[in-house]
Amino acid sequence: MTTRELFQKKLSKIFVLGLLFSLAILAVWGIQQLKQQSFSQTTDLINNREIALATEPILPIPINLELDEAKVQLGNQLFHDPKLSSNDTISCATCHLLDKGGTDRIPTSVGMLGSNTGVNSPTVYNSGFLFRYFWDGRAKSLEEQIEGPISAAKEMGGLGWSEIIEKLNDSPEYVKAFKKLYNQEINQDNIKDAIATFERSLYTPNAQFDYYLKGNKNAISQQAKEGYSLFKSYGCITCHQGMLVGGNMFQSLGLFGDYFADRGNVIKSDYGRYNITGKEEDRYVFKVPSLRNIELTAPYFHDGNPQTLDEAIKLMGKYQLGVDIPQQDVDLIISFLRSLTGEYQGEPLS
Ligand code: HEC
Ligand code: HEC
Repeated sequence: MTTRELFQKKLSKIFVLGLLFSLAILAVWGIQQLKQQSFSQTTDLINNREIALATEPILPIPINLELDEAKVQLGNQLFHDPKLSSNDTISCATCHLLDKGGTDRIPTSVGMLGSNTGVNSPTVYNSGFLFRYFWDGRAKSLEEQIEGPISAAKEMGGLGWSEIIEKLNDSPEYVKAFKKLYNQEINQDNIKDAIATFERSLYTPNAQFDYYLKGNKNAISQQAKEGYSLFKSYGCITCHQGMLVGGNMFQSLGLFGDYFADRGNVIKSDYGRYNITGKEEDRYVFKVPSLRNIELTAPYFHDGNPQTLDEAIKLMGKYQLGVDIPQQDVDLIISFLRSLTGEYQGEPLS
């Protein structure tokens, strides 16, 4: 077998595993629907029974999730509150702006007193559906993820929970809201629960492509249809698939060629999952990012290196598939990717 055939075989294996993973997630949600919710699971229940298992490798985002609206509101307030940082200057929203696709639109995020985190800020939209969190997947849940920015000196200054709780306790509104919703004093678990519940509310249904998946063949342009077809035939779909068009597996960056040697200036965050597992085979392995709302979240990759979708797609062709994608095809793939932009609270994201 040639290297290409071997690779294709490997990709089809990944593809099947990925699809199985998506099915497993749907099954888990189904079971959760039947169970009573527990405190930690809040309410990530899918309330949209319309979703049949599509024959396509991409599934629509549910139209409606049942979430505790009061917790969403409280989480929204905390997400935007700089009191969670050491000097009251940085909130989650500093790097995840809801009117900038849930990111900061700069190559690598800047936090406390101008410190550079060295990594690109991923979107918080649809983060409730990701299989892992962070580029290297080091957190398993939204609740666990929150520990990261709170404790990172470079992000929010690394204030301890007891000091954060003390600051929040100065606000009678917070004390009252936590008492009412959790029947508890403010603590790190209920802070995390409220923020995570808010993040689960940041899902973006009703992309044109979702209408297309549900049977409206005219919901996307001819170019987008051709782009989708190329997205499948080039093999992008083997890694970017499922409900989020990504977000359900880990993959190496640089299957064909050495992306990092070509880019130069390798830093620790480039090692990806190797930093977590210490295994050589995990060097340069990253979570495959979701491509939902991707037109709104430039620059791209964990390093914020490609400035445009055009550049990102060409790099993907070169390093992930071993092909130089012609400009005409790149443009068609961009048309498809643009059809993945959804709505937040009934308004198109922009
Ligand atoms: C200083 C900028 C900054 C601040 C402040 C910040 N983040 Fe982030 N966020 C990032 C960066 C950069 C990453 C990626 C880090 C990595 O993968 O190593 C990230 C990752 C995430 C992720 C994972 C997304 C994914 O695709 O895996 C979520 C969710 C998230 N942040 C939510 C939050 C919340 C909630 C807060 C507040 C408690 C917060 N962030 C504060 C910059 C920031
Ligand atoms: C072998 C798996 C694999 C294949 C095939 C693949 N990708 Fe990716 N893609 C990734 C990974 C991993 C990343 C994250 C890179 C990083 O962290 O720096 C990524 C990142 C991206 C991004 C940037 C996302 C962001 O939020 O920064 C875009 C856009 C993208 N891919 C599009 C494509 C397109 C279009 C194709 C087909 C031409 C493709 N990918 C093929 C694994 C893959």
